[in-house]
Amino acid sequence: MTGSYWIETWGCQMNEHDSEKMAGTLEGLGYRPAASPFDADVVLLNTCAIREKAEDKVYHFLDRLRPHRAARPEMIVGVCGCVAQLVGEGIRKEAPFVDLVLGPRAAGKLPEYLAGAKDARGIVDTTLYQDSILAGTESVRRQPGRVKAYVTVMEGCNKTCTYCVVPATRGREESRPLEALLTEVRRLAGEGYREIEFLGQNVNAWRCPDTHAKLGDLLRAAGRVDGVRRLRFTTSHPLHLTSDIIAAMAEVPEVSDALHLPVQSGSSRVLQAMKRGYDREKYLAKVNELRKCKPELALSTDVIVGFPGETEAEFQETLSLVREVGFDQMFSFVYSARPNTVASLMRDDVPFERKAERLMELQALQREIQLAGHQHLIGRTFEVLVESRSRRDAEEWAGRTRCNRVVNFPGRGLAAGDFVTVRIVAAGPNSLRGERLDDAREGAPEGKIALA
Ligand code: 5AD
Ligand code: SF4
Repeated sequence: MTGSYWIETWGCQMNEHDSEKMAGTLEGLGYRPAASPFDADVVLLNTCAIREKAEDKVYHFLDRLRPHRAARPEMIVGVCGCVAQLVGEGIRKEAPFVDLVLGPRAAGKLPEYLAGAKDARGIVDTTLYQDSILAGTESVRRQPGRVKAYVTVMEGCNKTCTYCVVPATRGREESRPLEALLTEVRRLAGEGYREIEFLGQNVNAWRCPDTHAKLGDLLRAAGRVDGVRRLRFTTSHPLHLTSDIIAAMAEVPEVSDALHLPVQSGSSRVLQAMKRGYDREKYLAKVNELRKCKPELALSTDVIVGFPGETEAEFQETLSLVREVGFDQMFSFVYSARPNTVASLMRDDVPFERKAERLMELQALQREIQLAGHQHLIGRTFEVLVESRSRRDAEEWAGRTRCNRVVNFPGRGLAAGDFVTVRIVAAGPNSLRGERLDDAREGAPEGKIALA
């Protein structure tokens, strides 16, 4: 018995892409997308457990689903992803109407459990299956147009950052073989995708189980695939960002000028308490090495404020590092204690209000830095990959530069996936405004636009 499905997704790109693969699995079984979660036959919640707030969202969503499930008991509700792994059976205690609880590495079992339909009710599977990557599953990619496609290169994380729940929810690292990845990249490029983003919780640690090739080799090989115009990879751990990866980033022209390199804190004492494996100086040295090899590189980062015991002076060190590096983009969070983590047992004497103030202070600084950085770009010309048309104005488009900055610009006769040349005319903290310089090229065959 099949019908319609809805997948609600929270969390990182890994989760987004897992949802694409789950959608592919469901469509392979004959399910079709539903118009809303409330009238779907199968509703899957692909959840994130990174902070308490992310976890709360899952329970709010379940509360909204509850009356609909009561009215239509044939509806199948599944909780998947990191909260499923973390809470397991406990989810059915909070919300007994949940039929299926599947950890991220058990998602490959969906067809088996759904085929059994009625018997599927009550299944809790949080096994960390070894071959669970849903590898080879046809994804239903969510982006309009064939702009960017994610490719999972590895599952899991072997790091032991003291604040982080991910090693518990996604299990040990498991890399996919080089050949399988290249086959997937070739297929996606053949379908017209312009940008490929390799995904792994600790992507720099990818290692081909057959050939022992490393990420640098993968970037070089993927760059040679016909039709691939941009290559990215996320998320990078500074400790595993080797000189060979940096060399490959510089050598392979398709590798974007943007890198996400989470620093977490500017204080060596805090970094040690987080067990990040580097200190402030080592992080800054890595940034220098990167900028030497790739001068146009835009760096983004993650920062946690209010880690247990973080002093005022240590927070100031974070501000000074942020000033020194001048990140292009930052994702910043107040520390959230997660179950069974080492940090959750640490003495935490910083009141939440002070942590929230620190976050505001950090974010205000980052806004200033971003605005100044963007204003610096006024007058410069960039190759922009067209992503989407504005909802409000049919002649207004948004795209991204190779350094992953968002540019809005007026244009006609465009489609998602086109490349255009844009000159920056104005700048805000979060995006740039530009004008097209290549109107004459309208109607040029897709992918044949050669840009300097
Ligand atoms: N509290 C707050 N932020 C966290 N992150 C990870 N774990 C926690 C936590 N317990 C942040 C880190 C990570 C990003 C994905 O989420 O900055 O890089
Ligand atoms: Fe959230 Fe981390 Fe799981 Fe991604 S891996 S969904 S960020 S908890």
